[in-house]
Amino acid sequence: MALSLCSLRFLIFIFLVSAIPVAYIISVERAKPPTHVFHYHSAGFFRECAKWDDQGSRFLVSFLEGGVGAIHVPEDDSPDLVLNEVTVVKDFDLTGNASLGITVDRPRNRLLVVVADLLGNRYSALVAYDLSTWKRLFLAQLSGPSKYNHLSFANYKLV
Ligand SMILES: *[C@@H]1O[C@H](CO)[C@@H](O)[C@H](O)[C@H]1NC(C)=O
Repeated sequence: MALSLCSLRFLIFIFLVSAIPVAYIISVERAKPPTHVFHYHSAGFFRECAKWDDQGSRFLVSFLEGGVGAIHVPEDDSPDLVLNEVTVVKDFDLTGNASLGITVDRPRNRLLVVVADLLGNRYSALVAYDLSTWKRLFLAQLSGPSKYNHLSFANYKLV
C-alpha cells in the first residue's frame, strides 16, 4: 500500500512525529530543575562566557558585542529572585570586537579577557582588568593587520 503525501494517515503521522519532540521540549522547560537556576535581566542577547567569582559573590560574563558584566548574587538568594547584570567593562577602543573567554585570576585580583574580531578575524588581544576597580591593567595584542599577518586567532578557552 502506497502512502500518499496528502493522505490523512500521512498527515497524522507527520503531526505525531513533530508533536512528540515539541511536547518533550515543553515538558523539560516547564519542569522544576533539579539544581538551582539563576534568572537575571540583561541588556544584551548573547553572553559568550560566564565564570563564578567566589570572593565577589558574583557571576562575571563576557559580551559577544564586547564588554564584561557582573551579576551579583545576594546571600539570601531565593529561587524567585531575578538578578541584574551590570556592565563593568566597555572599552571604546575595542568597539567592534567580541569579548570571548574569561578567567578569574584571584591571586593577582584580575580578570583576563580574550578580545577578538569574530567576523573579520583581523584583530585579537588578551586584556586584563582589575577585579576591584575594573581599570585595564594591560592589553597584549595577539594578532592584527600589522602583526603576524592575520594568521592567529586567539584561543578563547582560557583555563
Ligand atoms: C578591534 O579593536 C581594534 C583595536 O582598537 C581596532 O583597530 C579594530 O578596528 C576593532 N575591530 C573591529 C572589527 O572594529
